[in-house]
Amino acid sequence: MVNVAILGYGTVGNGTAQVLTGNLENLEKRLGQKINIKYILDLREFPDDPLGGRVIHDFKIIENDPEVSIVAEMLGGAHPAYDFSAAALRAGKSVVTSNKEVVEKFGDELLRLAEENRVRYRFEASVGGGIPVISPLMHSVVTSNKVTEINAILNGTTNYILSRMSRENIDYETALKEAQKLGYAEANPSADVDGLDACRKICILAAIAFGKLIPMEKVKTRGIRDITPEHIKNAEKNGAHIRLIARALLLDGEKIHLEVAPYAVKNENPLSGVDDVFNAVLIHGNYSDDIMLYGKGAGKFPTASAVVSDIADIIARGSSFAPDEVLCFDRAPEAYEEKLSEKLIKETADALGTPVFEG
Ligand code: HSE
Repeated sequence: MVNVAILGYGTVGNGTAQVLTGNLENLEKRLGQKINIKYILDLREFPDDPLGGRVIHDFKIIENDPEVSIVAEMLGGAHPAYDFSAAALRAGKSVVTSNKEVVEKFGDELLRLAEENRVRYRFEASVGGGIPVISPLMHSVVTSNKVTEINAILNGTTNYILSRMSRENIDYETALKEAQKLGYAEANPSADVDGLDACRKICILAAIAFGKLIPMEKVKTRGIRDITPEHIKNAEKNGAHIRLIARALLLDGEKIHLEVAPYAVKNENPLSGVDDVFNAVLIHGNYSDDIMLYGKGAGKFPTASAVVSDIADIIARGSSFAPDEVLCFDRAPEAYEEKLSEKLIKETADALGTPVFEG
């Protein structure tokens, strides 16, 4: 029997419980083990929930229970999510998370803790929602290729706003209000519309692709606030669609360059046709050539399905430490190339398009 503890019973935490219970027969048959949600940690009570009886308020109960072998952290925010994750790893429990903030800020440290304690730290749901991207990149693409470039749409909210502006001929503010009404954008939409969420996610993907974790503070990031209907119309006249693109490049001499910026993406590029809240990741490997992964980048059940895939991976591959999983988080800001030459930017973006804003 594998006992799982869920930290945080918000949207993704509840989705994870539902996917685990709804898919239990299939999971147990495939994994050959019984799975039980033993605890749900939350500050609130859920008297009407079928799993309400498992809700507890004290993390120590989970930390001190030797029967719990997997902790699924879906609290959001850096603290106490990081602190509980570190404590769980020290207590010999594997941890899975959907929390991109913790992975970008503390991924190196938590992977090292996992290594020391011979357990696993997995974070498939932190990037691309329901799209399996971390695992294929980590366990497949980088083992047989040198990845030289990733271009990606990693934020559903901004992609929704840009799609609506283009299709409905409305301005940024109107499209943002729509996105807020639908629950995509927060009341304070900064993390999405200023590109910070996409930046965090490309830092995580680049860490896996290039083996170096670049802190997001180093990355030039521009969001979509200043995009006007004129920008959209001009791009369309020139055979392109504006998309917020997160880029990760490995340049001559092993220098890494990351950026997040609105690009007029040529219609020939598959990222140009990615609409609404969908995400897509276009990875270039030296042998595989282009690989595109596409799907729902956010939302309760898509994200929960990625969390459950990590839980299943730990049960299937074993909870003791997997050496390939630590390689991605060597913190190395010196590997970062802040200023690409104009010529190089132009060359690397040839198949993509042109940045909407200069400089
Ligand atoms: N705010 C994010 C988005 C949610 O819009 O893509 C998923 O990280």
